[in-house]
Amino acid sequence: MEINVDLSCIMVIFGGTGDLTHRKLMSAIYNLAFQDMLPKNFAIVSIGRRIFTNDQYRNQIRESVGKYSRFAMEDEKWNKLRNKIYYLDFDFRDNDGYVTLKKLLDSLDNKYNTNGNRMYYLAVAPEYFEPIVEKLKFHSMNTHENSNRRIVIEKPFGRDLKSAMYLNEKIKSAFSEENIYRIDHYLGKEMIQNIMVIRFANVLFESLWNNKYIDNIQISSSERVGVETRGGYYESSGALKDMIQNHIFQLLSLVAMEPPISLHTEDIRDEKVKLFKSIEKVTPEYIMENMVRGQYGRGKIGSKEVLAYREENKVSPTSNIETFAAMKLYIQNYRWAGVPFYIRTGKRLASKSTEIVIQFKSAEKLLYFKEFDNLEPNLLVIRIQPQEGIFFQINGKKPGVESAIIPIQMNFCQNCPLENNSPEAYERLLFDVMKGDSTLFTRWDEVEYSWKFADTILEVWRNNHPNYPNYDSGSWGPKESDELLKRDGRFWWNV
Ligand SMILES: NC(=O)c1ccc[n+]([C@@H]2O[C@H](COP(=O)([O-])OP(=O)(O)OC[C@H]3O[C@@H](n4cnc5c(N)ncnc54)[C@H](OP(=O)(O)O)[C@@H]3O)[C@@H](O)[C@H]2O)c1
Repeated sequence: MEINVDLSCIMVIFGGTGDLTHRKLMSAIYNLAFQDMLPKNFAIVSIGRRIFTNDQYRNQIRESVGKYSRFAMEDEKWNKLRNKIYYLDFDFRDNDGYVTLKKLLDSLDNKYNTNGNRMYYLAVAPEYFEPIVEKLKFHSMNTHENSNRRIVIEKPFGRDLKSAMYLNEKIKSAFSEENIYRIDHYLGKEMIQNIMVIRFANVLFESLWNNKYIDNIQISSSERVGVETRGGYYESSGALKDMIQNHIFQLLSLVAMEPPISLHTEDIRDEKVKLFKSIEKVTPEYIMENMVRGQYGRGKIGSKEVLAYREENKVSPTSNIETFAAMKLYIQNYRWAGVPFYIRTGKRLASKSTEIVIQFKSAEKLLYFKEFDNLEPNLLVIRIQPQEGIFFQINGKKPGVESAIIPIQMNFCQNCPLENNSPEAYERLLFDVMKGDSTLFTRWDEVEYSWKFADTILEVWRNNHPNYPNYDSGSWGPKESDELLKRDGRFWWNV
C-alpha cells in the first residue's frame, strides 16, 4: 500500500505506564512496526509518574507487547522500535515537566527528522484532559508552523452534555477541530468499517434497505463479564453512558444513515449527524414505556457462581447504576418511518457478542407464504465481535420428496480460519491519526447529539427509582426487555 502523506511524527503518550498503553497502544504500535507500516521518522515519548529509566520502561513494554500483541515477538522487529521509545516521569500538573518534555521533543525532532509533528495521546483519566491541554498551550506545544500537532482524546468524552461542551471548548481553544481525534475504538473494528461496504457496495442490500422491506433492526452488545476491576469507573457511568451514548450510537448511525455524497470524512460525518437529528424525540412517558434498565444479581456464568453488581469491588451496596439497557427507537425520515430499532446492551449476560440483525419483512400471503404459515424471515446479521462476519438466512426447499421449506443459513466468518488475524482497532486508528484521516473518529456534533439523547433518558431514570437487582447473571437481562419486543409481536434474535 502506498501512502502519499507525511506520516512522520513523535507520539507523546500521557499515561505511558497505564493499562491502556500496556495492553492496547504499545501492541498496536508493535503490530504496525511488524508489518513495516510505521514511518521511519518516528519516536514515542511516554509520560507517567512512576520513576523508570528508558531501559527499564522499554523492558516492561516488551513484556506487555509479548503478552498482548497479535504477532509473535521477533527481536529484529522489536529492537528497531525499542530504541525509539523514551520515558519521562512528571506530574501532568507540573510546569517544569513540560519544559523538559519540550526540550526532549526538540532534540528527538533533530534525531529522527520528525519535522515538529506530534501526536499527543491522552491515555489518562478524564480529569486530566483539561490540565494537559492547557499546559500544552501554555508551553506553545499545541501548534507549530508547517508541522501537524494532533491530539487524541480517549473516552469518556464528558460525563454529560454540559461537561462534554466544557471540555470541547477547552480543547478547541488549543487545537482546531481537524486536529482533534475523539477516539471511539469501536469504529476501528473491521466489521464496523465493513457496514458501509456491505450497504453501499452491494446493490442487493441497499435497494432493500428501507421501511418497505425491513421489519426491524436489532443492535445487541452483550458481555459475559461483570465490571471486574472497573467498579469505581462504572459507578459514575452505567450501560447507557458506557456503551449506548458512544459505541452503539455509532453503529446505529452507520446502519441507518443515508448514503453520503462521497467517501470523504466530512460527507460521512454529515450523514451521521443528520441521522442523529432524525431520531424521534423521546418524552418521559415514552422513556418509561419503551426503555428498560437492569442491574445484575448473583448467578452463574458457565459453572461459576458470580457476585451481584452491588457486591462488586468499589461498588456501593445500594447502587442504582444500570448494567443493562434496552430500548426501542424510531427514525423519522422517509427511509425508516415505522421501522423499530431495538437496542440492547448489558454485562453478565448469557453470551459475549456484538451484532446487528436486520430482519426483513414477510411477503404478501400468496404462494408459499400462503401455504406455509411458519416461514422464517430473511435475516442479515452483521457480526462485529468476537466473531467477525456476515450471516444471511433465506428460505429454500428441503431436499427430498416432501415439499417442505427450511431456512438456509450462509455464514461467513472472517476471523475463524486464523484466530485473531484481524487488525486490532487501535492499530487502524493510530495509523489513521498519523495519516491525518479522521473518518473513524467522532466529530464534535456527533458527540453533542448523542449526549443530548443520553441526558434526556438519564434525567427521567434519575427521578424513578428501579428495583434492583432485576436480572440474574448469565441470563439475557430483565424480563421487561423481552416484553418490549413481545408486545410488538417480535423477539430478540440471539443468532
Ligand atoms: N484500559 C482500557 O482498556 C481503556 C479502554 C478504553 C478507554 N480507556 C480510557 O483511557 C484512559 C486511561 O485508562 P487506563 O486504564 O490506562 O488508566 P490507568 O491504568 O489508571 O493509567 C493512568 C495513567 O495516567 C498516569 N497518571 C495518573 N495521574 C497522573 C499525574 N497526575 N501525573 C502524571 N501521570 C499520571 C499514570 O501514571 P502512574 O501509574 O505512573 O502514576 C498512568 O500512566 C481513561 O480515560 C480510560 O477511560 C481505557
